[in-house]
Amino acid sequence: MGRVILGAILGVALAPVALWAWFSFGCPPVAVADKPLPMESLLNSALHVRVGREAAKAKTALKPDEETLLAGARIYRDQCAACHGFHGKPSPFSAHMYPAAPALWEKAAKGDAIGVSDNPPAEIFWKVNNGIRLTGMPSYHNVIPETQIWQVCLLLANANKPLPAEAVMIVRGEQPPAPAPAPDAPQEQPKP
Ligand code: HEC
Repeated sequence: MGRVILGAILGVALAPVALWAWFSFGCPPVAVADKPLPMESLLNSALHVRVGREAAKAKTALKPDEETLLAGARIYRDQCAACHGFHGKPSPFSAHMYPAAPALWEKAAKGDAIGVSDNPPAEIFWKVNNGIRLTGMPSYHNVIPETQIWQVCLLLANANKPLPAEAVMIVRGEQPPAPAPAPDAPQEQPKP
């Protein structure tokens, strides 16, 4: 009995030493190709609960009208496409990140959603505004104005609906036609 107790005490005392050694010898998974830790998926559940609790407070007066969706597409092209890719044109490095950046313009693995179109806009807003720690997902709070964050979130939430033609071109990674100059715009003078 005494030995069992001694063994238990030693076991408890040695656990921090073993943990210290595990870190000190560089054993935890730190490279993209390393195997995930057994408990890593628990972080996803924690994220889900936190987003669910806090997203309810996020609101916008913006409507997913043509102006909002087009503005959202331009923000997507400038801020997000490098990691999340365009429709039919995946980012060259997203699959080489851990975790990978999901393709937001392709059919989701489950159901009929395109990207995150089955998520409420407020949940998408939480993720874009706060970022997701220990992943490559940045926090856009203080990076772009809040209105722009909402514009891109409303676009993603409507990714499975008909979008303005120009927005469709942008999320396919195509160059939309240059706007025609206003009729009363000053003509450029030829340089002498
Ligand atoms: C530097 C790379 C990078 C950039 C830039 C980036 N993201 Fe992400 N994003 C990620 C990664 C990686 C994840 C996966 C996080 C995870 O698995 O938890 C992610 C996750 C997300 C998710 C959650 C997806 C899901 O399935 O729940 C959304 C929504 C999202 N990003 C939107 C955006 C938007 C909008 C922008 C631009 C304003 C953006 N991201 C810019 C890397 C990036």
